Amino acid sequence: MGQPTNLYFTLLPLLLCWGQGSNREAERSSCNRCDLRLSCNCSRGGFTRVPMVTGRALTLDLSFNNITVVTGDDLTGHVPLRALSLHGNRLAAIDPSAFDSLWSLEELDLSDNQLTAINHGWFSRLGALQQLNLLNNPYSSIGSAPVFQGLVRLRRLAFGGPALKELKRAALSGVTQLEELTVKANNLTRYEAGALAYVWPLGRVSLSLHGPFLTNTALASAVLGDVSYPETQITLEDLHLKRNESVQPFRETAKRRIRYIGFRNLSISDEAVIDLLVALDGVPLTSIFVDGVTLTGEGRWEPASWTDHKSIDEFFIRNVVVLDVFKFVSFLQLGFLLRYPRKVSVIKAEVFLMPCATSSLLMSLQYLDLSDNKLTDLTLTESLCDGKGMMKDLRVLNVSGNALKSLSTVSRLVAKLSKLTHLDISRNAYSSMPRGCSWPSTLRYLNISRAKLITITPCLPTTLEVLDLSDNNLKGFSVALPALRELHLSGNKLLRLPQGDLFPNLQTLNIQSNTLNWFGRSDIQSYRRLQNLQVGQNKFVCSCDFVTFLQSGIKGVGGVQLTDGEESYVCDSPLYLQGEPVGQVHLSVVVCHQVLFVSVSCGVALFVGIVLCVLLWRLHALWYLRMTWAWLRAKHSSRRRQRLRDASEALLSFDAFVSYSERDAGWVETFLVPELEEPGETDEDSANPRAPRSLTLCLHKRDFLPGKWIVDNIMSAMERSRRTVFVLSENFVQSDWCRYELDFSHFWLFDGEAGGEPAILILLEPLSKDDIPKRFCKLRKLMSSTTYLEWPREEERRGEFWRSLRNALRGEEEEDE
Ligand SMILES: *[C@@H]1O[C@H](CO)[C@@H](O)[C@H](O)[C@H]1NC(C)=O
Ligand SMILES: *[C@@H]1O[C@H](CO)[C@@H](O)[C@H](O)[C@H]1NC(C)=O
Ligand SMILES: *[C@@H]1O[C@H](CO)[C@@H](O)[C@H](O)[C@H]1NC(C)=O
Ligand SMILES: *[C@@H]1O[C@H](CO)[C@@H](O)[C@H](O)[C@H]1NC(C)=O
Ligand SMILES: *[C@@H]1O[C@H](CO)[C@@H](O)[C@H](O)[C@H]1NC(C)=O
Ligand SMILES: *[C@@H]1O[C@H](CO)[C@@H](O)[C@H](O)[C@H]1NC(C)=O
Repeated sequence: MGQPTNLYFTLLPLLLCWGQGSNREAERSSCNRCDLRLSCNCSRGGFTRVPMVTGRALTLDLSFNNITVVTGDDLTGHVPLRALSLHGNRLAAIDPSAFDSLWSLEELDLSDNQLTAINHGWFSRLGALQQLNLLNNPYSSIGSAPVFQGLVRLRRLAFGGPALKELKRAALSGVTQLEELTVKANNLTRYEAGALAYVWPLGRVSLSLHGPFLTNTALASAVLGDVSYPETQITLEDLHLKRNESVQPFRETAKRRIRYIGFRNLSISDEAVIDLLVALDGVPLTSIFVDGVTLTGEGRWEPASWTDHKSIDEFFIRNVVVLDVFKFVSFLQLGFLLRYPRKVSVIKAEVFLMPCATSSLLMSLQYLDLSDNKLTDLTLTESLCDGKGMMKDLRVLNVSGNALKSLSTVSRLVAKLSKLTHLDISRNAYSSMPRGCSWPSTLRYLNISRAKLITITPCLPTTLEVLDLSDNNLKGFSVALPALRELHLSGNKLLRLPQGDLFPNLQTLNIQSNTLNWFGRSDIQSYRRLQNLQVGQNKFVCSCDFVTFLQSGIKGVGGVQLTDGEESYVCDSPLYLQGEPVGQVHLSVVVCHQVLFVSVSCGVALFVGIVLCVLLWRLHALWYLRMTWAWLRAKHSSRRRQRLRDASEALLSFDAFVSYSERDAGWVETFLVPELEEPGETDEDSANPRAPRSLTLCLHKRDFLPGKWIVDNIMSAMERSRRTVFVLSENFVQSDWCRYELDFSHFWLFDGEAGGEPAILILLEPLSKDDIPKRFCKLRKLMSSTTYLEWPREEERRGEFWRSLRNALRGEEEEDE
């Protein structure tokens, strides 16, 4: 029963989806750009409607499309969705129930669209929503119905834009506590007092109140007053403070004893600075943060030097534009303000000098960041009072991104700062390192990255725990730093990992983007404490050792881990592996065990060779070869002779060619030759009416032409003889030449024009076909096809033998008669 039910439930959503897609949503395109964590990035996809996306998606980014409307059905079924962004579309209409099924939604971004009104229906079901962004839409007010009423979990809220004109008291009702509130209200003209007053606690507030500060300071004061709490960080954006009146709202905040105030994109005159300092006189401010400020005056702020800002602990100013640089009187004037903070950052402020007089005032300074300014060795010497050890409490000095060139100068200047632990001199123009330097004995952190150093020397302080030398031109590293824990060497030209014994305490080593070809177990083993290693983006030669080491070995070396991700390890050579991640390379055995492979294949080849030789020897291959060679030559010369014969008259000069083994020569000479060539003497049978005619025999011993090739001799002998007589015996079988003769006769038999039975076999001793080795197949064939004569042991039967032989030799003639 269970199975069909399950099936039904799995099919049901499929059917529903299919139904939807086919009926109304025909023109809705779909977006499949979802990753494994079900985060779907459909940004900049050119969609004009909400595309179809898997219902399991957790994050859906639809930013920067051309979506104009979200209908009631577009997002149905997206119950698991946690984050939805519709930022940067042309949304003008959203169905009141469009987000109803998004029960799990935690983040919703509707910023930069064309929404002219906010509908309270949109958020009525979003009980889980924590983050809502409604910025930069053309609505002029939040609306009278309490739109955020149901958002009990809301922690970050951003609303407003250039069109926002009024904020009613009920606008934020229901919103109680927020970590972050952003209100863009540069054109706000109406504010019902208390509209923002009920949000508490409030972590951070960011207010853009450009217009009200210029034209309606009462309104600005009311807004500012409603969000000012001692524990709230207030940041004001886009302000243009010109005259005394525009500073008025700060008097309100001063009363609320705020501790943190920040400005972004601020434009301020000298007069306004003075008034601001006066307004904040005695306020227990601990932090002033200014990012992006245009100073329209000349920096003459002395009129406010009587004010009390003792509580300021941190002063941060970044991205300073001074409109009239040549008239500006520098930071000398800020002494009264900078005297108390422990932490001062003046970043990207075109500072080229901080006078020693100012520095001398910074008694309690512990942290000084002057990065991205225009300091030189000379002006730094002045700023640090020629190394006399002013700013005795300084722990961190950051002069990164200036125009410093001499390491010995900076080391001399800081040598007396007896508490200095961090020195950041990165992004300067240091190109060489002196042989020796003096440093404070407390120095733990040194950053000389992005300079132009070529070599390093024992100038480096041995007390260092963190050293950053990345993006230089170093080719080697050979200075011992016993306390070092972290070493950054990426972007240099090192060919090998530095010797591990130089850094007995090193835990982190970054040597990415160098010119390393490989590294191995022994390199890593020399580091005793290493834990994090980053060696990616080098020009790796994917040798077998290296690939094996990286794929399996590295985990086995102490506690070392490659923390920069497998994908940064890519083969540079050999060419056929270029661009391949080392982790995915598979090298064959042939490449990896060359010596073994060569020796094994040589062994195998040798073995096969030996076996083949034995086999060939057993099969008499050599003999076959010689035979074939002789046969070919014979055939060739036979053809030549044939032509000769055709020209001149062929002539048979012998009755028979006798083929015999040298060992049977005795028999041939004592019996055969006398009997056949001189018949009268030996033939006892004189009663025979027909006296036997003498026959002419061709014997190789007697009739072969000396100096001629033996095969030629044999051939011509056979051609000039009517018959060939083979004297068969054990000896014959063992003598090569006899076998040749046999073969040539055979060849002659079938190739030549001689008819009849040209071959006659005489068996000297009883020899059965089976006694003849198999490879003499011709002889065996001959024995079975041709009748043979056996040489009788008994004297009395020899007459019969000779007669038969003669008959056989004369066969043709007898027929003629
Ligand atoms: C949106 O549509 C406008 C014209 O209607 C076109 O110019 C623009 O490129 C489109 N934007 C995107 C992201 O497709
Ligand atoms: C809002 O203020 C800006 C200046 O910040 C101004 O250019 C713009 O016209 C104003 N917009 C409206 C709708 O009033
Ligand atoms: C900075 O503020 C001015 C108004 O003072 C405004 O016109 C400008 O757009 C703002 N700049 C940025 C980058 O927000
Ligand atoms: C600025 O205005 C306040 C009160 O409106 C006044 O007390 C103060 O003297 C003025 N400051 C200057 C520099 O005019
Ligand atoms: C020094 O300033 C640079 C740039 O502002 C920053 O990246 C770096 O982290 C700072 N160094 C220290 C030690 O704070
Ligand atoms: C060293 O300085 C560079 C550039 O300012 C910075 O990016 C880097 O993070 C610093 N290194 C360390 C280890 O803090």
